[in-house]
Amino acid sequence: MEITVTIQDVTKVKSDALLINLFEGVKQPGGATGAVDRALGGAISKLIESGEIKGKRGEMTTVHVFGQIPASRVMVLGLGKREEFTRDIIRRGMAEAARAIRGMGVKRFATILHGGGIAGLDAEACAQAIAEGATLGLYTFKKLGKAANDSPQVQAIEIVEGDKAKIAAIKRGIEAGKAIAESVCLARDMANMPANMMTPTDIAAQAQKVAKETGLAITIFDQKEMEKMGMGAILGVSKGSAQPPKFIVLRYTGDRANPKRVIGLVGKGVSFDTGGISLKPADGMGWMKTDMSGAATVIGAIRAIALLKPKVNVTALAPCAENMPSGTAQKPGDVLTVMNGKTVEVDNTDAEGRLLLADALSYGNQIGLAPMIDVATLTGAIKTTFGGITTGVFTNDQAVCDRVLKAAATAGEKAWQLPMHDEYKEQNKSDVADIKNSGGAGAGSITAALFLAEFAGKTPWVHLDIAGTGRTDSTKGYIIKGSTGVPVRTLVQFVLASAK
Ligand code: BES
Ligand code: MN
Ligand code: ZN
Repeated sequence: MEITVTIQDVTKVKSDALLINLFEGVKQPGGATGAVDRALGGAISKLIESGEIKGKRGEMTTVHVFGQIPASRVMVLGLGKREEFTRDIIRRGMAEAARAIRGMGVKRFATILHGGGIAGLDAEACAQAIAEGATLGLYTFKKLGKAANDSPQVQAIEIVEGDKAKIAAIKRGIEAGKAIAESVCLARDMANMPANMMTPTDIAAQAQKVAKETGLAITIFDQKEMEKMGMGAILGVSKGSAQPPKFIVLRYTGDRANPKRVIGLVGKGVSFDTGGISLKPADGMGWMKTDMSGAATVIGAIRAIALLKPKVNVTALAPCAENMPSGTAQKPGDVLTVMNGKTVEVDNTDAEGRLLLADALSYGNQIGLAPMIDVATLTGAIKTTFGGITTGVFTNDQAVCDRVLKAAATAGEKAWQLPMHDEYKEQNKSDVADIKNSGGAGAGSITAALFLAEFAGKTPWVHLDIAGTGRTDSTKGYIIKGSTGVPVRTLVQFVLASAK
């Protein structure tokens, strides 16, 4: 989808739809909405007066123009109360408006710069939010096979701006918003793909494609190389599967003067999680095709970073394996040796994500990544705690964690920190190995995080548990049913802010 900006008088715009906005409680619209209102002989203010347009958040009203302006129709988007306005309201409103306009069969439409008027947000942030909201909100997973291309698509959005001085900032915002949102959509596509078409080998092929497209350096370790490196935990998970594991390393170098300063992004890549010998119930197991969302989001994030070129170095690690029960599968009670030499008792083969991450964090430490941020659909418990709304955050370094939380707030991705009190470590104690991979009943997300902390070691580290936020059953705002692509935008925002 193309997104452009043009300098134009909004009342002269030729388009199949023109999207303007209104804050709640405003009786006499000003700015672009006021100009359109006057050109329509006061039609909008009359609709406000009659109570048909209230400006409530998410409200959408079609106003017919009967040839009074060149645009075929006007859509008025309610932005809610001005004092409650944030850039996330632009994203959500833009997503819902774009979907409504797509539903009318319109392929190209124009919009004003929401938030740039009386709300007074800076033009770049507004344009970025518009590009993100529209791109994310119009996302669809293309059906596989014949039904693939028959749904109508929006091809182009034009942002109309009267002030020439804002154009450069708007262009920057569009570019950033598109790079980030299209990378979120890539992560969504990967996670929405059925597990037979998104195996560890397929994830590696996608990473190769991203590397080729953006110029990222890439290394993919195969099973033999993983054996040599001593990645016993990933290999343990992978043992039951006919699909070979892959360990993907993507490198972005934006700060050549400081080659040793490299941020690490680590994503769990379980292409399908049956639970292994500790088999999951059949109900809803199909959703475990999204258990590689962590891997997909770090690949998506580093893609956006490569396009935006901040002055910072980033390496993404994606340990990928399929968790299957079979005659060759690992069993509860087995003991594995992680790359850093620690032994793990496999108490439950369904706690496989932390095994993958144990080797990946150890590898990240070996190559000197710092800080490290891992992303994983790690525990059902985090879903019980936060539902599908909020990502669970854990850390061994409050300063870095605060930066991640700030990035999440800017990105509009909800995140909340949970404690990692030493007392919980008791639950991870093993009689036969250094640690066991399941903490038993109670505080499942915290014991999982404490397990990971053993492998992050002294490196500043933040863990994001997206088992709740990684996918959704319903479309709302710019979040579309299926894989959400959370937290690509947080990761990108964190890296961009780190470069400043
Ligand atoms: N992939 C699951 C967690 C999950 C659950 C993700 C629901 C998305 C939705 C993970 O591998 C898992 O099975 N965790 C177990 C850990 C337990 C056995 C210690 C869990 O949460 O039940
Ligand atoms: Mn599992
Ligand atoms: Zn899993």
